[in-house]
Formats: sequence, structure tokens, C-alpha cells
Amino acid sequence: MSSLDAHLSRFTRLDLIRVATPLEKLERLSTHMGRDIWIKRDDLTPLAMGGNKVRKLEYLAADALRAGADTLVTAGAIQSNHVRQTAALAARLGLSCTALVENPIDSADHNYLTNGNRLLLDLFNAQVEPVVMLDQPDAQLHTLAERLRSNGKRPYVIPVGGSNALGALGYVRAGLELAAQIAASGQSFAALVLASGSAGTHAGLALALAYTFPQLPVIGVTVSRRTEEQQPKVQSLLERCAALLGVELPARCQVTLWDDYFIPRYGEPNEATWAAIRLLAGMEGVLLDPVYTGKAMDGLLDGIGLQRFADGPLLFLHTGGAPALFAYHPAVLD
Ligand SMILES: Cc1ncc(COP(=O)(O)O)c(C=O)c1O
Repeated sequence: MSSLDAHLSRFTRLDLIRVATPLEKLERLSTHMGRDIWIKRDDLTPLAMGGNKVRKLEYLAADALRAGADTLVTAGAIQSNHVRQTAALAARLGLSCTALVENPIDSADHNYLTNGNRLLLDLFNAQVEPVVMLDQPDAQLHTLAERLRSNGKRPYVIPVGGSNALGALGYVRAGLELAAQIAASGQSFAALVLASGSAGTHAGLALALAYTFPQLPVIGVTVSRRTEEQQPKVQSLLERCAALLGVELPARCQVTLWDDYFIPRYGEPNEATWAAIRLLAGMEGVLLDPVYTGKAMDGLLDGIGLQRFADGPLLFLHTGGAPALFAYHPAVLD
């Protein structure tokens, strides 16, 4: 359907996601909001409780195997979904996984430190190395890889969030999958809303949709940064991803960000985050998360009230993350 397909097919990918994740209408929420809202269910991807990272890992882990690696090395927050899915995939492939983890919200809460995604890292036999701060993640990962190499291991470094150009290909592929579903739905969507963090999801999807539905605004709700910091991150990854694929970056491929919803900071939900989580759970049985999708959905719901969208149905990319609910659960019960 798109010239991107041919370019994408030159890259080796682990065949983990064999069927498209569902695109469905949220009937009760649509009635409640007076606006049709559809959801792309990437929380239902088939690895270790789902989420967006496995799409990037299909390409990254294939590259690790090609390189003869025996250890996947990555980094993230204690409650990182990315580290959880990387550790799970390492287990599935018979590889080791070593992860640097930080506590970005200085939490001393027992659940935050031991439950949710962190609990799962132990089940996947990941080697977890706490660090005070991931302020230089690439350099810190490089140092770790050197140490593992000197101990006879063959590490493969996966950057934070899996967000390099190769990882972002996973969301180019997801964007093409979504484009086919949009075409089949017959809907003319006014906008697509997603969480924008380490930026690979946003960049890959924006590239695929610029080729397939150029009129569809792709709105990234930031989860950790103001627009002026996030914009160059997404733009740079878009450019590197297009260059890796060997395609032009269309001029119409604009980075749109809303940075009003992540306060007080990354990893710390606010009242509106919880309200969005409760609304989706109570009305649709859909579980959002406190770090990414709760904030992105808050942006979508608030954007309706503020009339930030053109007319037409809206589309939300659910990128997963619900295991973190168990790490934050006292706040849910407040
Ligand atoms: C549940 C969830 N949603 C969204 C994101 C953001 O994706 P990206 O880091 O590609 O911007 C992440 C990243 O960790 C995530 O875990």
C-alpha cells in the first residue's frame, strides 16, 4: 500500500507480532464525551503484558542476534515498561539481560521499589543494576557494555526506550498497520493522540502516517519534557529513521506536541492523570497507566473540552504500561 513497505522489508525483524493489534471504537466513552473516540490497542501486543516496546524490539533484538550477542543491555526507570519487555524478550530468546535502573521520582514506597514492572524483572532473571541517575544514559550503557565484554560477555546495547532509528522502524511498521485499519474503518479521523517520551513511537508513527494519511495530525503528549526540548528529539529521530530507510522525510511531516499534561514531572501522575485512568477503567474496562497513557489520554479528553481538535472522530494510541499500576496503587485508592 505504501512505498515505505518495500523499504521496511529490507530490515530483519523477529516475527513476534503476527496479527494487527485491534482498532476499536470506545462506545461508552464516545457517548460520555459527545465525540467518537477510537483506540489502537498496542497495549495488547503479545509479549509480557503488552505495550509499545516489543515493536521496537522486533528490529533491535533481530540485530542483536545477527551480531552474535548473548546479553541485551538497556536502561530505564525502576518501573520502566521498556526494560520489562526487553528482559522478557531476552528470556524468550535465551539471552541474558542486564539493566541500569534509576529511581526518577526518589520514591521510597515499597510498591514502587518492588512491585509492578520491577517485580517482573526478577521473574525474567534480569540482572538489575541500580544507578543514582541516568543523566548520561548512552555513556553509562557504553561503560556497562565494556565491563561485560571484559568479563567475556557479548553485549548488545539497546538505548533508553529502544528509541534509535532502528527501533523506530517498529513504529513505521505499526503506522502502516494502522493506516490499513483506518482505511478499512471508513472513518475520517481528526487527529491521532499518543504519548511522546523517548520519541521512537512518535517518530516512527509520524513518518508512516505522513506517507499514508498526510492530512491526519499526529499529536504527541509529552510525558517528561517541555515542547522546546522534545521537539528536536522527535525531529532528529524522524530524520535518522527516514535516512535509515532511504526515504525522503516529507515536508508535511510536522512534529506536533502538547506539553500541558505531564506535570509535576516524569513518572509522577497528577489528579487529571488518575481521573483519565479511572474514566477509561470504569467506562470501558481499559487499563491506562500512570506514567504515559494516563497523561496522553488526559490530553485527548482535555483537548476535546478546549476544542483543540478539528471536527471528526479521534484516535488514541494505547501504548501499554498497565503493570505500573501495581507499583503506584496506593494513589489509585485515594
Ligand atoms: C506505556 C508507554 N507508553 C508510551 C511510551 C513512550 O514511547 P516512546 O518512549 O517511544 O516515546 C512508553 C515508553 O517507555 C511506554 O512505556
